[in-house]
Amino acid sequence: MRSKPVTLVLATLLLATLAPAAAQQPPAPQQADAIKPGNSRLADLMEAAQMRHIKLWFAGITGNWKLAGYQTRQIKTRLQDAASLYQSLPVDDVTTMAKPIAALAVAIAAEDSKAFVKAYGDLTAGCNSCHRELKIGFIELKAPAANPFSDQVFGAGKGK
Ligand code: HEC
Repeated sequence: MRSKPVTLVLATLLLATLAPAAAQQPPAPQQADAIKPGNSRLADLMEAAQMRHIKLWFAGITGNWKLAGYQTRQIKTRLQDAASLYQSLPVDDVTTMAKPIAALAVAIAAEDSKAFVKAYGDLTAGCNSCHRELKIGFIELKAPAANPFSDQVFGAGKGK
């Protein structure tokens, strides 16, 4: 029965190792809110915004203004969701997005292609500026060169 103390020691060691993990509470709101690149919910919201950022471009350049308005609202909602879920997102960077989003809405309402391209550039600059601020400037957006959504008819439904 010499092994008993060894087993005990091992069990105690094991418990000591497991105890902190077992004692861990679900993340406190501040912890869940912390921005660390790799935060899956935030990254998914961003990817959803990226998808709309691409669709917005093709809607705008094909003059499908209703779709462009729709995509602008989709982007706005994703950014709002990100801001409400992650209060540590720099407020200034979230609110600076309000300006290009408003400019986009104006350009779309006026069906003004030139103003649309300008507002789209400002929106994209806003995305990149927050990324740089948060030291994730390696995530850089630009106007898309090609349309990955080949199943969607971007020029369709104009005025409907
Ligand atoms: C207020 C700050 C902020 C703004 C504004 C912002 N982002 Fe982000 N973005 C982030 C943060 C933080 C992450 C990193 C998320 C993570 O991985 O935890 C991120 C990550 C991303 C990613 C990488 C997602 C992935 O998994 O590949 C993309 C793409 C992205 N953003 C697109 C956009 C687009 C498009 C816009 C503008 C329409 C935008 N972002 C505006 C803060 C911002």
